[in-house]
Formats: sequence, C-alpha cells, structure tokens
Amino acid sequence: MKSFSATLLTWYDRNKRSLPWRDVGDPYLIWLSEIILQQTRVNQGMAYYLKFSKKFPTPLALAQAGEDEVLKLWQGLGYYSRARNLHAAAKSMNGKFPTTYEGVRALKGVGDYTAAAICSMAYQMPYAVVDGNVYRVLSRVFGIETPIDSTAGKKEFTALAQNLLDKKRPGDFNQALMDFGATVCTPQTPLCKECPFAKLCAAYRTGRIEELPVKAQKTKISTRYFHYIYVEQGNFTWLHKRGAGDVWQNLYELPLVETPGPKADFSVVTWLKKAPVSVCSPIKHVLSHRIIWADLYKVVLPPSARVPAEFLRVKQADLEKYAVSRLVQKLLEKL
Ligand code: ADE
Repeated sequence: MKSFSATLLTWYDRNKRSLPWRDVGDPYLIWLSEIILQQTRVNQGMAYYLKFSKKFPTPLALAQAGEDEVLKLWQGLGYYSRARNLHAAAKSMNGKFPTTYEGVRALKGVGDYTAAAICSMAYQMPYAVVDGNVYRVLSRVFGIETPIDSTAGKKEFTALAQNLLDKKRPGDFNQALMDFGATVCTPQTPLCKECPFAKLCAAYRTGRIEELPVKAQKTKISTRYFHYIYVEQGNFTWLHKRGAGDVWQNLYELPLVETPGPKADFSVVTWLKKAPVSVCSPIKHVLSHRIIWADLYKVVLPPSARVPAEFLRVKQADLEKYAVSRLVQKLLEKL
C-alpha cells in the first residue's frame, strides 16, 4: 500500500488549488497570506491578500505604513491584534525577512503553526504544520480520539504530522493536508466517496466521521449589550479610538454605552442634554467568544457643544477613512 504521504501528494498534484502566494517562494508574501488566512477562509482571504500584497509588496513598504492605514486595509477581517502584530513585525525586519526558523518564529504574531508554514513553504524546511485541517484529517484517518484542545493532543498530532511529513516536499505536504481538509475531509459532510484514504480511514470504516476530531471543551460564550450614539454636530460627528484590553483595540467607533442587560441607559452620559433617538433595533453580532447585541441612537448637538476629551471630532464625509469594526460598519449603514 502506498504511504499516507505519497497518496496525499498524488492527490495534491491533481487537485491543488491555484493560489497567488503558492509557488512564488517569497517568504514575505507567504507570511502575509498565512496571517490573513488565520482569520478567514481562502475564498474570503484572497481579496485581502491581493490588496495587502499590492499596497505593501515588501517588508519595507509595510514597515513604512502608518498603523491606521494597516488597520483600515484589514477592516472587516476581525482580530485586529493580528494586523497590529503584522505591522510591528514588518518594522522589526529592517527590510529583510528572517531566513532561519528561530528568526521567523520570533516575529511578533508568529506561533508554531505560522513558523512551520512559512519555513516549509518558502525554505523547504522540514516542519509540519498543525492547524484545524490537520487535526481533522489525521484524527479521522488514524482514528485518534485524544482531544485536540488538550496538551496531550497537541503533542500527539504534532508528532504524527512531523512523522508523516514528506521531507523532500515539506511545503507541498503541508499545503496538501490543508487543501485536502478544506475541500474533501470537511467538518460537515466530508466527500468520503471520492476520498483516496477511504480504505485506510479508521473513522470511515467504523462510522465515526461525525465523532472525530474530539474536542474536550466547549468555548464559553458571553453576551454583551452595546448602545452606540451617532452624534450630528453640523457637518461633524464624534469618534472614539478604542483602547487596550478589549475587542477591537485601536479601531474607531461611535460613542458607546455598554449595559449589563439589553435595556439602553444613557444616564451616565454627561454630554447628552436630551434623550437620543433610536435609529434601529438591536442587531446580533457574533464573535468567536462573545455575542454582542448592538443598537444605534442618534442625537443632534449644537455647534457650541464641547467635545469631551475621549472623542475625536471628524467630518461626517471623512468617516469612511477611519478603520471601524464590521459591527460599526453595519450600524452606520442603518443611518
Ligand atoms: N490555509 C492557510 N494557509 C494555507 C495554504 N498555504 N494553503 C491552503 N490553505 C491554507
């Protein structure tokens, strides 16, 4: 019987997706694509990759950009700390992408997965990647029930992937596992009928496709209630730049009141002299660990109203120049 790796690579050579960062061998572009793809599926990530690689074709170009510019381009992808780390890492490179595993792994925002991905794809170094696709494919094919979110699981799957890795084509092997997991061995209704591993696959043979991979913990989801206020002051509106220690760090947003329950309460807002008017009913915004219910209110203030220190007074026509979360974008569309 052909080995797992040989079967996988044969499948890849016939079915690989044609992606712009593949086969270019540029570690900077591969890094860029990997950071973006941590955030989103290949289909949605593509537009962001094309925008970023066009605007910032080299580490130097990215390093010389302003953080607001980078965040603006990242807008809509979520997890904005990734964009800030991307920018900080580019600044740390002095125009040259690191050439050793240790150098790559030391970049801000680069963990084991990303370092292995970059070094295998750009430099053909023998590091196996372990991402969600890899956990899923290997747990099913080899019938491994160790929870993937446990220390033991991480160790076991990493060792297995490392063992299976084709040392002559490490970059292709890693991308083959990802493509295979994304297109054949999918989370729901995998295409077992066309799978080259069907005969070998422990999960398929024993009817355990839906049970693998095993996850020990369900992620806790918290619910929050946000009430945004759109200020209209002549041609101007007010924005707030979010700080550290919460979602959307350094992104802009409208003045916000958060309440413990769904009911809006503006009594804490000292600069509001009259009740704001409701613009829309609450919309549900789902992030990885939280659900945010957010609604929007509007208030018209006289030109004489003082702008509190925490706000930036900006022309309404300039709003689109500021990086805002998807949620704020959706609310602004309700105006
Ligand atoms: N997901 C993250 N990186 C990828 C890559 N290089 N190919 C396919 N899917 C990916």
